[in-house]
Parts: sequence; C-alpha cells; structure tokens
Amino acid sequence: MNAIESYQLVKSYPGRGGAVQALRGVTFSVQRGEIYALLGPNGAGKTTLISILTTLLAPTAGRAAVAGFDVVTQSAEVRRRLGVTFQEIVLDTELSGRQVLDVHGRLYGLDHPTRKRRIAALAALVELSDVLDRKTGTYSGGMKRRLELARGLLPSPQVLFLDEPTQGLDPQNRAGIWRYLRRLREEEGITLLLTTHSMEEAESLADRVGILDDGELLLTGSPAELIGQMGADVVTLAGTGDVGRQSALLAGLPFVTSLVHHVAEGPLGEPSICFQIGVDSGERRLAELIAATLAAGFAIHQVAIHRPSLGDVFLACTGEQLRDG
Ligand SMILES: Nc1ncnc2c1ncn2[C@@H]1O[C@H](COP(=O)(O)OP(=O)(O)OP(=O)(O)O)[C@@H](O)[C@H]1O
Ligand SMILES: [Mg+2]
Repeated sequence: MNAIESYQLVKSYPGRGGAVQALRGVTFSVQRGEIYALLGPNGAGKTTLISILTTLLAPTAGRAAVAGFDVVTQSAEVRRRLGVTFQEIVLDTELSGRQVLDVHGRLYGLDHPTRKRRIAALAALVELSDVLDRKTGTYSGGMKRRLELARGLLPSPQVLFLDEPTQGLDPQNRAGIWRYLRRLREEEGITLLLTTHSMEEAESLADRVGILDDGELLLTGSPAELIGQMGADVVTLAGTGDVGRQSALLAGLPFVTSLVHHVAEGPLGEPSICFQIGVDSGERRLAELIAATLAAGFAIHQVAIHRPSLGDVFLACTGEQLRDG
C-alpha cells in the first residue's frame, strides 16, 4: 500500500489579478517506509501540496490519500496518522520545551505516562534532554527546529511531513536532523515526505525525489535515475556570442543529451552566457564541442567538465539554479 497518493491534484488561490494556480494536476505516490524529497524553486507549490496532504487546506480538484484514507472525506483518520513540521517555526516562547511537547501530547489525547515516556525518548533522539526545561524563547534556531521535529513525532505518526526541516541551520544541525530522520525510517519504518532547496539533502536522504515547478511535477525518480538521464558528463561552456545560434548548434550535435543556458558573470564582470551541456562522454567530446563552438563565432571564456549532480538535473528541468542551503 502506498503511504501517500495523489491524483490530478489542483489548487487555485483567489488573487487580485485572477486566480493563482498553485498546483496544476499533481499525480504522485510515496511507498510505505520511503523517504521522498520534493524539490522546487520558491513558489513552486511545495507548501501548498503539504498543506493539502495534511488536511489543512482543501484541494480545488483531484484526490489524495494518506495512510489509505482520503484527505477530504476521511480527514480525521488521516490526521490521526500523520505528523507535520511547518516551514515557519511556531513555538510559544514562554513555554519550556517540555511544556510545548506536553501540551501537544494532550492535544492528541496521549495519557500522562505515555506522554512522559515519549517526551523523554524524543528529547533524547533530538538531543534536547539537557535544555528541555528552558523556555523555548532562549533556544537557538537549530534547537527550535529539533524541538519541532520532536513535536511532529510525538503522536507516533505513520507518515511525517517536513516542510524545509533544515532551512537556516548550520551544517552540524543539518547533519543532526538527517541522522534522526534516517534512524526513524530504519527503526520505526516511518514514511517521510520532506521539501528542501538543498540538493545535498535530497541526494543524501531521499530514496526518490520529485521536482515541482510552477505547480507541476516535472520529474520523479531516484537521485541516481534522474542523474543518469543527464548523460555521463556535463560540460560547462561559458562565453559571449549569439545565444540562439549557439543553442541550435549544440542541440543539433548527436552526442548532446541535455542542454540549458543561463547568463552568468564573466571573468571581468561582463555578462557571459553559460551553457550546461549533458554529453555521453566529456573527455571524448570536448575537442569537438570547442571546435564547433569556435567555428560558429562564439568566444569561449571558460570550459569545465564534471559528473552530473541532482543540481544539474534541477537546472535542466526548471531552468533555475538550485539554492543550496
Ligand atoms: N494563501 C495564499 N493565497 C494566495 N496565493 C498563495 C497562498 N499561498 C500560496 N500562494 C501562492 O501559491 C504559489 C505556491 O506557493 P507555495 O507556498 O506552495 O510554494 P513553495 O513551493 O512552498 O515556495 P517556497 O519554496 O518559497 O516555500 C505561489 O505562487 C504563492 O504565491
Ligand atoms: Mg514553502
């Protein structure tokens, strides 16, 4: 059984200049025990999708189910089985970490001994045991995020939704959150859907990723599958010249598997056109690429070859550089 399923999910928000189409028919599924990362530029619809799946927002059209229950018609069943942490941190700064967790546990109807046991276990998991009786107003950003994670986990959810769980965290705190999430999956078989802007996070944590852009799921697959589609290597070629002519030339070469370009800053601060060219073999094709480019009158400033990463997939797919962090 899939832990999360959506079919042709549409969400439009009313707006002054007409409705904003935040989701335009999103169909996807996440298996039980899987870690799925949603990547997408700002405004892609990630938070909207999480809000619908966690029953906080009603879809305009389409269907979705979490843990086998419909998010609209069986929302109480869904809520009983999910945990969520939000993109914006919402903590009562006057309460201690322990009080925040306790209030949440009562909200979920957990009895006193269960609350006590789970709060102690979760505080240990997210390494907050020592500061649990301090007011959350005195916590660092990393401690707040960790407390939010513990709160999301308190009701022992089958499916946990995390909207940008490591936004704004330093590398130590990020690594900590990744460690806790891996443990949860291994020890409790929990299903995780997270959103992130960090390709490092997606590559290191996720079994599968989905790239959402402007309300559409453009690609989904394991990081290795998506990277494999790029070709064996990516050649970055930057310079000045006729973009249209150069693009047509590159796209016409039989060994080019993907092509995107954007404007970057050249070595002297002048605008430079940067092509990212997926090729079957960088070493073998470099001379041909350079010769064809020069013959077309394009002045080359810089050339580099690298193995493709999820960031290259994202760029090829959305035309935008992935913000890492
Ligand atoms: N309550 C709302 N009313 C109107 N428009 C909204 C509302 N919430 C979101 N939107 C719009 O819907 C689109 C998707 O927004 P959403 O917050 O889901 O994106 P996101 O992928 O989470 O972005 P980010 O990476 O910045 O968090 C955007 O165009 C946004 O402006
Ligand atoms: Mg968001």
